[in-house]
Amino acid sequence: MNILLTGGAGYIGSHAAVVLCAAGHNVVILDNFCNSQHSVLDRLTKIVGKPMPCIEGDIRDTLLLEKVLKDYKIETVMHFAGLKAVGESVQNPLDYFDNNVGGTISLLHAMRSNNVKSMVFSSSATVYGMPNYLPLDEAHPTQAKNPYGRSKLHIEEILTDLAASDPAWHISFLRYFNPVGAHESGLIGEDPNGIPNNLVPYIAQVALGRLPHLNVYGDDYPTADGSGVRDYIHVMDLAEGHLAALNYIQQQPGVCVFNLGSGKGSSVFEVVKVFENENASSIPLKVTMRRIGDVSECYAKVDKANIHLNWKATRTLQDMCRSTWNFQKNHKCANQ
Ligand code: NAD
Ligand code: WQD
Repeated sequence: MNILLTGGAGYIGSHAAVVLCAAGHNVVILDNFCNSQHSVLDRLTKIVGKPMPCIEGDIRDTLLLEKVLKDYKIETVMHFAGLKAVGESVQNPLDYFDNNVGGTISLLHAMRSNNVKSMVFSSSATVYGMPNYLPLDEAHPTQAKNPYGRSKLHIEEILTDLAASDPAWHISFLRYFNPVGAHESGLIGEDPNGIPNNLVPYIAQVALGRLPHLNVYGDDYPTADGSGVRDYIHVMDLAEGHLAALNYIQQQPGVCVFNLGSGKGSSVFEVVKVFENENASSIPLKVTMRRIGDVSECYAKVDKANIHLNWKATRTLQDMCRSTWNFQKNHKCANQ
């Protein structure tokens, strides 16, 4: 199929591009590079063995999207493009609604007028808010805790209304838990600008010596070791989940929702230990106050994706930590 990846130069989109190409699909990337580097395109070429068309542009530019959909005879869209920093969304909510919600509406207009009515959308476990029970299944009530989460919920609602208005739409929301790790080549991975917000990229920066220590946000949670528990999923497992969802929606009109996680919770201390073991490094720690808005535990029930998508995460926390470090080392050298 001819597939447009909005935000395809970013962390998750670039890994999905590799998996989709390997499965024989034609991938076209559209990205405004607000949170990615142009050099990722050369690195993708090295991995897949041929260049991938990439259009530098914004999803809010409906006319450009219409042209891209026509020119490349796009049949389906994987919609990764979006801003994703929770703290920044609290400071600049309008930017988040404009980019994420406004951008999606613009994309949907272009898709509808070109009769492209199939989409896999990058949603997030953040839409569950404070867990009422664990593991979180797709039927858990949704609730936004911040403007970023609200933007994801608004998009899910818009897509649901759209599919209800026209049975020709085939849409899947993939609610990601905590994606980490990198492609085994070490050529692509997560490389956030500035000081990372997320645990594993932060640990990697400490291991590189760019940051002095990891702040552990609380060791007094009601968990086995007192630190926060999350469901970490290898980005390549996540990418394979997109291929499975793409195949599934071909036969499935309307909207379907899937959690993509490993189904297993790991604590901050466990992640640090595994990272240290895998990479023979020592990560200095300081236990600090809890981070505002953090929940104690969050992990997925993944039965629905297992059954309907015939997909499950197979890579371990060891694989996630090893591949993160492999990418960070390579990338550091590449940037020197
Ligand atoms: P990322 O920032 O690495 O990738 C997003 C890409 O979209 C970037 O390349 C950015 O330049 C591009 N982009 C942003 N706004 C755009 C616009 N208006 N027009 C064109 N391109 C635009 O982020 P990621 O981690 O790869 O996340 C991809 C998607 O998955 C996002 O929608 C994010 O909200 C969602 N998600 C991510 C996580 C996570 O922890 N990484 C978890 C849950 C959901
Ligand atoms: C994981 C654990 C922290 C950093 C966020 C977004 C969510 C989703 C994924 C997009 C927690 C602890 C972290 C640090 C720490 N993104 N931690 N020291 O908060 O589960 O989810 O990313 O949709 O919306 O909120 O991930 O990696 O930030 O934190 O102790 O320096 O690590 O308290 O227990 P989180 P995270």
